[in-house]
Amino acid sequence: MAVVSSAHSNIISKTFLFHHINGFKRFSFCLPFSSSSAASLSSKKKCRQPVASSVLELGGIKIAKDDVVRDDPTNNVPDSIFSKLGMQLHRRNNHPLGILKNGIYEYFDSNYLSMFDKFDDLCPIVSVKQNFDDVLVPADHVSRSYNDTYYVDSQTVLRCHTSAHQAKLLRKGHTHFLVTGDVYRRDSIDSTHYPVFHQMEGVRVFTPDNWEASGLDPISYAAEDLKKSLEGLARHLFGAVEMRWIDTYFPFTNPSYELEIYFKEKWMEVLGCGVMEQEILKSNGRSDSVAWAFGLGLERLAMVLFDIPDIRLFWSNDERFTSQFSEGQMGVKFKPISKYPPCYKDMSFWINESFTENNLCEVIRGIAGDLVEEVSLIDNFTNKKGMTSHCYRIAYRSMERSLTDEEINNMQWSVREQVQTKLNVVLR
Ligand code: DAH
Repeated sequence: MAVVSSAHSNIISKTFLFHHINGFKRFSFCLPFSSSSAASLSSKKKCRQPVASSVLELGGIKIAKDDVVRDDPTNNVPDSIFSKLGMQLHRRNNHPLGILKNGIYEYFDSNYLSMFDKFDDLCPIVSVKQNFDDVLVPADHVSRSYNDTYYVDSQTVLRCHTSAHQAKLLRKGHTHFLVTGDVYRRDSIDSTHYPVFHQMEGVRVFTPDNWEASGLDPISYAAEDLKKSLEGLARHLFGAVEMRWIDTYFPFTNPSYELEIYFKEKWMEVLGCGVMEQEILKSNGRSDSVAWAFGLGLERLAMVLFDIPDIRLFWSNDERFTSQFSEGQMGVKFKPISKYPPCYKDMSFWINESFTENNLCEVIRGIAGDLVEEVSLIDNFTNKKGMTSHCYRIAYRSMERSLTDEEINNMQWSVREQVQTKLNVVLR
């Protein structure tokens, strides 16, 4: 339902953040903003200070846990998210995400004589300016809310898309580049949504000599080249499939498109793209140029290419998962490890005005971690007094083992307790 939507890992419908509707309630952010500077995070000086707690190195910058997770109203990053920073699944050559990334690299390298510069280690902690302003995301856009994005402080976020790096790379003079990275979004819970997923961004810049000889205007020239390149990429990944282009909206491109392919008997969105807004080029020292850009969700494609049924599996260290994939083996079909039974628990409560499903899911994930498979709203009504009740069904299931009743009951008790205290709702 969002006004715009997301290049998510989702393989069903909630895809591109900046265009699709997400289907869930989003609330506008209302937290007090402090003027504290998150810029300090990218300042090497601060990041290199010795710290007692765990320290990560991200894109050459050292980051301590207390730089990212703080008890402060401008910060909404939980421990569980900090633990994912630095995992960089996309850099493991025998992980489905790494195999897919390398498969895409191969396409660009062989068709463009290795012209594309590749980045897969840029720090995921970026400024609000990089993540939103630099790519023209409107000031009132829902994706800027604390309900949708992880804020480290009022000026710093965990990037919610790899488009956050476009402006800086253009400024540095890159004209052909691919950026792969982990991206972070607060979201609901189901088999295709996880608060951390991976995207790849591609950008190609043209100069007047490129389009002048073609007889086309610069925008048509870039759009044509974009379509040709991405159709080639889709064929490289999926074989000789039927394709179609859908007009859409992204704040950073105009015109904007989605590429869909007909795969396993249905139309599936592969990526979002378009001709870069001239303003972005102009602000970054490229007023004489036009460019195209695209963004794709790696999980979304990998789930289809490798037959991976649940997004949590990408994070599994279980050998029965990891041993099924090896470097360069694109599209090997995953053989499900035995299925363990799900256990369902329902809970009903009266919501308040600030209740959101993303906040609920964050509380549940904080307790159950990857043992929660799905949270779905199964009943919703408003009584005569105007009080609204929601009933959610929580599916607990491990990908790796059977859960005991005791374990599930304990989790459910903690969920009930924390939902009351943290979300201020009244259990029924
Ligand atoms: N950043 C978009 C998202 O996360 C994906 C995207 C769409 C990137 C179009 C692009 C683009 O570069 O041109 O939803």
